[in-house]
Amino acid sequence: MGIEPIEISISSSEEESWDTIWKWSWFTREIWASEHWERTKRALQPVFSILSKLRVRSILDCSCGLGFKTVMFAKMGYKVEGSDASAIAIKYAPKLAKEQGLRIKFFRSRYEELGKNCNRRYDCVYSDYFDEIENYKTLRASAKGI
Ligand SMILES: C[S@@+](CC[C@H](N)C(=O)[O-])C[C@H]1O[C@@H](n2cnc3c(N)ncnc32)[C@H](O)[C@@H]1O
Repeated sequence: MGIEPIEISISSSEEESWDTIWKWSWFTREIWASEHWERTKRALQPVFSILSKLRVRSILDCSCGLGFKTVMFAKMGYKVEGSDASAIAIKYAPKLAKEQGLRIKFFRSRYEELGKNCNRRYDCVYSDYFDEIENYKTLRASAKGI
């Protein structure tokens, strides 16, 4: 019996890579989601205490992925929307919110384009990925967009 070759392709685009990650994450979520909800809740505890001190009411979760943190913000009573550069994340995030009994607005935007894609203001723009921006030029443009 011959061994079938496996074809591996590496994407050069970060957005395409995230699309792939979110596609498979959505597909396999029954395996990992319940643990992820717990991790997300723990990770947000320090954020919740800052938000309440700052009297924040509205939040844009601008690297929302599938929207786990966005949903958690909504459950804590914040008026929240989610955005992300990944089209696949934005396709599935409303479905995750719906499964949790919530209707949340999600839209596609890179940080750099938020000024153009957003027609409102928020008390807080939250990102759990801003520290991972790959270079100084993108960091400056992202900060400006946010
Ligand atoms: C670590 S994941 C987010 C996980 C998600 N917040 C959660 O709690 O499950 C980082 C996200 O940042 C997004 N992202 C990366 N660079 C971005 C950019 N320049 N603008 C907008 N989103 C970006 C990616 O598409 C990815 O969905």
